[in-house]
Amino acid sequence: MSDTIKPSSEVSIEELERILSVSNSDRNEAIHTVESNYETIFTWSYDKGEKAKLDKLYEKAKHSMWNGQTDLPWELDVDQEKLSQGEFITAQSSFGSQDLTGTPFEKWGEKEWIQFGIEAQNWTLSQFMHGEQGALVCTAKVVETVPWIDAKYYGSTQVMDEARHVEVFAKYLREKLSGFYPINAHLGLLLDDIIRDSRWDMTFLGMQIMVEGLALAAFGFIHSTTQEPLLKQLLKYVMSDEARHVAFGVLALQDYYQQLSLAEIHERQEFAFEAAVRMRDRFLLVEVWEKLGIKPKDVVPMILSNPDRAVFQSFLFAKIVPNCKKLGLLDAGDGWLRKKFTELGVIQFEDFADTGEEYENFAIANGESSVA
Ligand SMILES: [Fe+2]
Ligand SMILES: [Fe+2]
Repeated sequence: MSDTIKPSSEVSIEELERILSVSNSDRNEAIHTVESNYETIFTWSYDKGEKAKLDKLYEKAKHSMWNGQTDLPWELDVDQEKLSQGEFITAQSSFGSQDLTGTPFEKWGEKEWIQFGIEAQNWTLSQFMHGEQGALVCTAKVVETVPWIDAKYYGSTQVMDEARHVEVFAKYLREKLSGFYPINAHLGLLLDDIIRDSRWDMTFLGMQIMVEGLALAAFGFIHSTTQEPLLKQLLKYVMSDEARHVAFGVLALQDYYQQLSLAEIHERQEFAFEAAVRMRDRFLLVEVWEKLGIKPKDVVPMILSNPDRAVFQSFLFAKIVPNCKKLGLLDAGDGWLRKKFTELGVIQFEDFADTGEEYENFAIANGESSVA
């Protein structure tokens, strides 16, 4: 055990070592293969509208398509250095008011912090792009595995949406930022687990409820704080789709979970909780620290003990907790998931708006969204 690793209030030394022991084994890999074994389902029931809410969502999606190539102001210049100084990830947001004496940052001046900010932008947008590809392949799988025609119809529109999201994040990185990062190892493992599971509802739960629920909260946070007009508009457009996607997850799973046994529900509760903890604790800019010549083990404990970060991390659950409640996962059985979310300090979000209906608020009408 390294003597530089100290426990934070939330993560044990053992857990910290586990987090840092996972790294991307092949950063130059061009393709990545995941084996999965699931049943592709045909349905011979073509009654459109049998699942009325899914049908409504499908009709809505058909009218909500936008073109990533022509509907965004790509002509705008992005000054990454200025962005790095003014907002996004700064020393303050990473370390709060911690004393940096005796840390690797003691001698950092403005130049180093600006470079860090630029790398952090590249890293964050790269992870969004990779996550969007995860959504693209998961949704393609869902179209195959879900048993209802209304869900297959809707899922097909989501496949198109996700392709557009990968496209615009990749274009933004290529044309406006200054470098791609490979997928974070923890995000990669989580996506692998979600796509590998042979049960269609697990892919739904992992992607539509957990990953997309978190992404919607994270996009919303950046959308409301960034002053960069192109990114602001890009996120507004992506969020208008994402809100529908999370709604799809809630609507499709709600009925299905009524039929499951308590043991099966408990498995879903554990899956949801494990995904939540993985997303909360493990995205720690490790690849950025390495690029800047700093040992992650010297800096990650500082990040984890930043009280401002705890507030932001819990905010990421603002969509996940109410959606789990709507699915009945929070209180099923002996209320295992409620206890776990209480321990994590995120149960206060349980009565926030769930995304089953909320997507209407994100809709773009005449090129404008009601999202501020
Ligand atoms: Fe997406
Ligand atoms: Fe999505």
